Amino acid sequence: MDAAALRQSWAQFSVAGPEAARYFYATLFTIAPETRSMFPTNMRYQEDKLLAALGHVVSHVDDERELAAFARRLGADHRRFRGTDRQGRPVLLGEWHYMWVGQALLATLERFLGPGWTPALRAEWAGAYDVVARLMLSGAAEAERSTPPYWEAEVLAVQRRRADVCVFTVRPNYLCEYLPGQSLPVQVPQLRLWRYLSPANAPRPDGTIEFHVRAAGRFSTHVVRRLAQGDEVLLGSPVGAALSSFDRSPHLPLLLVAGGTGLAPLRAVAEAVARQGGRRPTTLVVGGRTPEHLYDDRALRELAAAGPPGSWSEGWLRYVPTVESGWQWPGAVGTAAETAVRLGPWREADVLVCGSPEMTRETITALTASGVPPERVLTESYDHSLYPPLAGAAGAARRDFTGTGAR
Ligand code: HEM
Repeated sequence: MDAAALRQSWAQFSVAGPEAARYFYATLFTIAPETRSMFPTNMRYQEDKLLAALGHVVSHVDDERELAAFARRLGADHRRFRGTDRQGRPVLLGEWHYMWVGQALLATLERFLGPGWTPALRAEWAGAYDVVARLMLSGAAEAERSTPPYWEAEVLAVQRRRADVCVFTVRPNYLCEYLPGQSLPVQVPQLRLWRYLSPANAPRPDGTIEFHVRAAGRFSTHVVRRLAQGDEVLLGSPVGAALSSFDRSPHLPLLLVAGGTGLAPLRAVAEAVARQGGRRPTTLVVGGRTPEHLYDDRALRELAAAGPPGSWSEGWLRYVPTVESGWQWPGAVGTAAETAVRLGPWREADVLVCGSPEMTRETITALTASGVPPERVLTESYDHSLYPPLAGAAGAARRDFTGTGAR
């Protein structure tokens, strides 16, 4: 496998940007019209996600250590992308789909690489795609024995906490297991868009899951404005290994720093600490611009006051809401980062940070400058944009954080 040729041609190709993505989809939908129903209804807003991810993964096929586990998991996860045939019956993603996507990929590369597209390079791409596709198919076949492709979940309650923030609770049709701090791909069937959201609760005996969403894009605005009790959403398999490893050094205090709906996975972690008997001193700093931005204040005060079930451990959770400005606000003033640093030192603590990209960056910079070893800080982002976007793939990777407030 000539990895250098794959990567070099991919970098060259990526400059074509959205035009290449349009060509890819047009080719795919012409070769295989049934794949159209797997993608969002309105492709006008569709970014280059699949193509950017696909090319990136295939052009890194030599990265064997990473590849096998990653591609098998990706294949298992791809089971949630289901289409419908002309009669409206569900179509499972199978070998044919991989073949069609492979054909569309090669045709698009050929179209945009021009004279650089030689028979030798074609053979490299076809071979690399085949390796990845086979791993994905075998990952899907294996997962089929133990987990469903997705869960159907009924919306039990929707609370609009602010004009742009809603909290909703769902009950999956059967138990959907996840770790506190992880995220799940969520789809609103009308839009056929999948976005990652983090459960805001530790797994509950009744299986219900609470999500927090701030309106920032098409998916999240739809959820905030239109989602109603009784609606159905789909949930994919949980992802994420960073925040969910909060328990790696249980003897250390835990500092959780949240901004906006980045609170959700950290509240799930706080609940998990409570379930373990609250033996771990935990500080939860939640930042908002004004007191009105602290949309989950009541639930957090209740969590801190209740104490862990089955034991008496007063003060296990120090909840510190902090605002940048608030008339007659009696609590902490400053950004989440400033307040967290003031409450320190945190040299001997595990630190979890979750919020917008700016908030996350600012907080990590401030905490490490105050002496927190960088390896003690955990944060996470789940997004298609982990893969470099097509236009300017050679430049810095875009990392739009959508961990909980998905766009
Ligand atoms: C080697 C083969 C493939 C690779 C490496 C690949 C990779 C990816 C990746 C990394 C994502 C983003 C996933 C996420 O963020 O959760 C994605 C999304 C997607 N993939 Fe694939 N994929 C492959 C084949 C296919 C095939 C055969 C189909 C079906 C026709 C397909 C349909 C989709 C769809 C519908 C999405 C979601 C796109 C969106 O919402 O914008 N993929 N793919």
